Amino acid sequence: MYKLTMIADLHHFSNTLSDGGRAYQLRSSSDQKCLEETGAIIDAAFKKIAESDCDAVLIAGDLSNDGEKVAHEEVKKKIDVLAEKKPVYIVYATHDWCCDGNAKRFEGDKYYNDVETMTPPQLREFYKDYGEKQAYSTFVNHLGAASYAVKLSDKVRLIGVNDDQDGKGHSGYADDHFEWILEQVKDAKAKGEAVIIMEHHLLLSNISMLVNQGQIIGEHDERAEALAQAGADFVIVGHSHMQRTTSYVSKDGKLLTQINLGSLCGHPAPITTLTITDEEYKIDVDYLEKFTYNGKEYDREFIKAHSQEVLTGLLNAAVNDKEDFLDRLSAIGVQRESVEKYYGILRRVSKYALNVTVGKAGRLVNFFTFGKGVDKKAVKAIKDDNLMDHIMDIFLSVFDGSIKSYDTSDPVYIIVHDVATLPKRASKVLKIKALRKDKIQKIFGQIEEIAEELTNPSAPNNQHHVIKRT
Ligand SMILES: [Fe+2]
Ligand SMILES: [Fe+2]
Repeated sequence: MYKLTMIADLHHFSNTLSDGGRAYQLRSSSDQKCLEETGAIIDAAFKKIAESDCDAVLIAGDLSNDGEKVAHEEVKKKIDVLAEKKPVYIVYATHDWCCDGNAKRFEGDKYYNDVETMTPPQLREFYKDYGEKQAYSTFVNHLGAASYAVKLSDKVRLIGVNDDQDGKGHSGYADDHFEWILEQVKDAKAKGEAVIIMEHHLLLSNISMLVNQGQIIGEHDERAEALAQAGADFVIVGHSHMQRTTSYVSKDGKLLTQINLGSLCGHPAPITTLTITDEEYKIDVDYLEKFTYNGKEYDREFIKAHSQEVLTGLLNAAVNDKEDFLDRLSAIGVQRESVEKYYGILRRVSKYALNVTVGKAGRLVNFFTFGKGVDKKAVKAIKDDNLMDHIMDIFLSVFDGSIKSYDTSDPVYIIVHDVATLPKRASKVLKIKALRKDKIQKIFGQIEEIAEELTNPSAPNNQHHVIKRT
């Protein structure tokens, strides 16, 4: 038996970069994951992992918040301590070298972009003890980032890869890089080993391409087919911050499973294990239950509340505090002036969204659609429910993988599907002749796909899943 513990998207934030002022608060409240608490969360998670019975630890990228050198220095000290107890393998990616050039420090109500960051070659040197040093083969891409292949045991092979750029302006692999990966996969498979690839971006779409477009590697269909045919069993990824397990079967019938790890420092603070035996693979998601920050103990509800704040914080600000609302929007890149003139209506819409019941919202939709918008019986069944509670349930489930499988007769299922198909139905009734009709129809299809995936998921159970080895 071989047991791997896997985490991703630590996004460690160094508190040396913040005085906790207004600019920091705005940054923090616009982020699904925690910021100032990351050091404490990572410490608690590493302690839990160090005391566990796992054989090795995988960290699938985004170790630092935004590539800040000081954040890397702090997080590496923590990894060094964990590595005294468990072998650690990491890949660095996107936010580890600040690929968007947006590393910041926060002072009062201002932020500054004068923070020292690290380049891929510097990261390669900095983290070489956690993958490359143990490797029997290494591939260095055009960024100067290293991919490595390691024999974890005589039955398990790990291929840790940097998939930041494919040389064609997309994340993924240049052809010679991919050839190197396939070579490692085939060699391991020929020896009957379990083959695990760890990259940062998605190889398989986990909800819908409408959501995953910017998160998935280039030529993902061809790459997934080739990797599955070559015999890769797992691809471990992060980046989307969503905990989801996705299956892919190649044209010649081989199964490849993607485990998309959620962010350790965001809801639901997942710590995933993959247990490998000769008979089966077992995936289990555990969670960090508590951590201590500044002498005070916090539980997982704190991390969940932080994620909820992204949605409700903005709506509450719109209702109660115009300046706060505009500041929050500008913190996520929306220009104040473009929104300010619509503030009155946005305030009313936000107030309505926070308080409206399913019954009232359903009646409003049906008023504008001549009674054809949403099923009246389904609306009546849950008419007194707060609409936002249902939206929040779905929002959180995207991150924690607890996506419920509703019966198709369930009022929630019926309403979600009625709303998702509304644009398509409206376009037919109104006989919209769109210039780019195919593109619009494709988007309508993808909206329906998301609704289906969120209420009746095709994916295996995202928290516990067993695969029999053939
Ligand atoms: Fe991330
Ligand atoms: Fe990322």
